[in-house]
Amino acid sequence: MKRKIGILTGGGDCPGLNAVIRGVVKSAIIRRGWDVVGIEDGFDGFLGPGKFRPLGLAEVRGILPRGGTILGSSNRGNPFSCPVERDGRMVETDITDQAVETIKGLGIDALVAVGGDGSLKIAMELMKKGVPIVGIPKTIDNDLMETDVTFGYNTALETATYALDKLHSTAESHHRVMIMEVMGRYAGWIALESGISGGADVILIPEIPFDLVTVCRAIDERRRRGSAFSILVVAEGAYPRGGSRVVRNRADERHQVERLGGIGDFVSRELISCLDMDTRVTVLGHLQRGGSPSTFDRCLGSRFGISAVQLIEQEQYGQMVCLRGRDIRSVPIEKAVRRLKLVNPRGQMVTAAEELGIAVGR
Ligand code: F6P
Repeated sequence: MKRKIGILTGGGDCPGLNAVIRGVVKSAIIRRGWDVVGIEDGFDGFLGPGKFRPLGLAEVRGILPRGGTILGSSNRGNPFSCPVERDGRMVETDITDQAVETIKGLGIDALVAVGGDGSLKIAMELMKKGVPIVGIPKTIDNDLMETDVTFGYNTALETATYALDKLHSTAESHHRVMIMEVMGRYAGWIALESGISGGADVILIPEIPFDLVTVCRAIDERRRRGSAFSILVVAEGAYPRGGSRVVRNRADERHQVERLGGIGDFVSRELISCLDMDTRVTVLGHLQRGGSPSTFDRCLGSRFGISAVQLIEQEQYGQMVCLRGRDIRSVPIEKAVRRLKLVNPRGQMVTAAEELGIAVGR
């Protein structure tokens, strides 16, 4: 049966999104003769006119190694709570009926929603309003349940590990404490895995509120053993025991979640006061989200895209594709967004770090 499917990429972008889009388009067109419509800027695409375009083979040619998403993305648009001007005031309004009408008007039979926790929750609600949806998990933070890994995470890790290698040489030359702040709002996967791979001495993650005395002691002991420099990796969502996360900007009309940032500077100030050592802070920021996807993310993204099309063919709506071991499978979206996949403070990865002599601040 010939079908017309839509695809959107929602939430923060990440490397591998174009591999997913290409996978969807190729398997839909070449293998099945279907039509594909690209929706621009995530769920924002349903809020304004004309944010749709047909995606053919020509549109996806050469995009596999490209970072970002050719469709654009947004981590603001939410059709369930969209700021609409009324009597000169912006009022949060549910405009999902309009979104559903738009989808029907375009003749879209099913929608592929590529996104993290937030976007997949919106997708699930749209599904309840009658839009057949299949989800694809995406986030560099790797904090989505029900999949071993999300695409984009591997590339972000590579970037962070490469940065740590570079910081090592300059830290050593200047006998400094180098602090690298990485992404990871609720989950410390990037900090933990890049820290282990990049030879960090201290790793601070949101799942283990840290004790500053322990951190200072770890660096001091290292210095007394003859290493005059230290490398710290801090996840943006990490916070001191009894304290709270460092927020750069509060949530407002434009940003539905608060913007984190500044924990690296906080740790630096505290270390200066307890150790007589020079410190420097590097905030890796969006470098982790940009650039060409790794081989792993290209392959995983492509496989996820293909599997989403297969799920639509089998009319298995409300499912999210996922990776289990080396196999692609699927789970109900509902199950995947119930809670976040956080680092287990007593799990193997943290234990491995501690076995290597890395301090985790407890
Ligand atoms: O994709 C998730 C994430 O990487 C978080 O770790 C971070 O807080 C957020 O994106 C930042 O997103 P943006 O700057 O696009 O709002």
